[in-house]
Amino acid sequence: MPIEKIITLSNKHGMKIKLSNWGATWLSCILPVDGQNREVLLGCQTLEQYKKQSAYLGATIGRYANRIANATIDIGDRHYPLVANQGVNQLHGGKLGFDKQLWHIQSQSDQQIIFTLTSPDGDQGFPGKLNVQAIYKLTDDNEVVIKFKATTNKTTPVNLTNHAYFNLDGETSKDILNHTLQVNANLYLPVDSNGIPSNDLVCVTKNNMDLRKPKRISDRLLVSLERQITGGYDHAYLLDKNQPIAAQLISSDKKVIMNITTTKSSLQVYTGNFLQHTPNRHNGEYDNFAGIALETQFLPDSPHHPKWPQESCWLQPNQIYSHQTTYQFIVK
Ligand code: BGC
Repeated sequence: MPIEKIITLSNKHGMKIKLSNWGATWLSCILPVDGQNREVLLGCQTLEQYKKQSAYLGATIGRYANRIANATIDIGDRHYPLVANQGVNQLHGGKLGFDKQLWHIQSQSDQQIIFTLTSPDGDQGFPGKLNVQAIYKLTDDNEVVIKFKATTNKTTPVNLTNHAYFNLDGETSKDILNHTLQVNANLYLPVDSNGIPSNDLVCVTKNNMDLRKPKRISDRLLVSLERQITGGYDHAYLLDKNQPIAAQLISSDKKVIMNITTTKSSLQVYTGNFLQHTPNRHNGEYDNFAGIALETQFLPDSPHHPKWPQESCWLQPNQIYSHQTTYQFIVK
């Protein structure tokens, strides 16, 4: 019987990350800052709490991250009902997504771990048996590199991401509202109150959604009608591939900078608008805005929008899904 495990990777600068084969989850990220250990990831005290919370803390999300409207997909003239888990829609792969699976540990060393998972044909309604690999690497440049690979035996949509929430001031600090965020994207997707795209891509200069210059997260947070609908940022940005990095997050004390680079086309910026009541590491609960998730992925509901300007979200039997995202931490 496979069992839940906790694995620690560490580098020569004293940075440490913890992971679990439960959900191929990123549990912890500790940086030495001014001679003290700073935990910059939100997390729970026990794996049992991870299993119960509904915020997807640090988990690997699949088979399809974000929402698929009406929990259905069509392939040719075949219609596939998927498992709905947020009203009529599917969020983050359905009721029993990859975040709720026990992954196999294929190999493990001081600075790298490879998890694998087989998602059977019909899993949460998706066609095709999908073989997935999630590779986490901690480099000596303080980078956490997350690589996902997948192959299928039938055409299926695939969108894999990690759902870590960051608080670069340290996860015991109240919220991320005074962090500074920059996202190199010219376009974003408006959504309705269910998080389903309500329009085509829109220029970020509309509706005060521009993050191309560093912006304090609290800046007019709930003034923009766009963000009132979602209770904060909960929007996908189409990344500008001409820019060297996708996004940068800076702690309010300016001591920690996180740079994100990725091969993926979009970034979901989610400011933890519904985090309230999520168990924390200290016998208590997180509040809304306690952390920010910066999830690299395809645009939400892409299976229904083949014309959006990004790589296809459909994986064919002769192809390999292969994407990489790097979170680099710079300590001042
Ligand atoms: C979504 C949010 C959702 C959250 C669940 C995010 O990726 O964008 O709308 O509430 O996941 O934890």
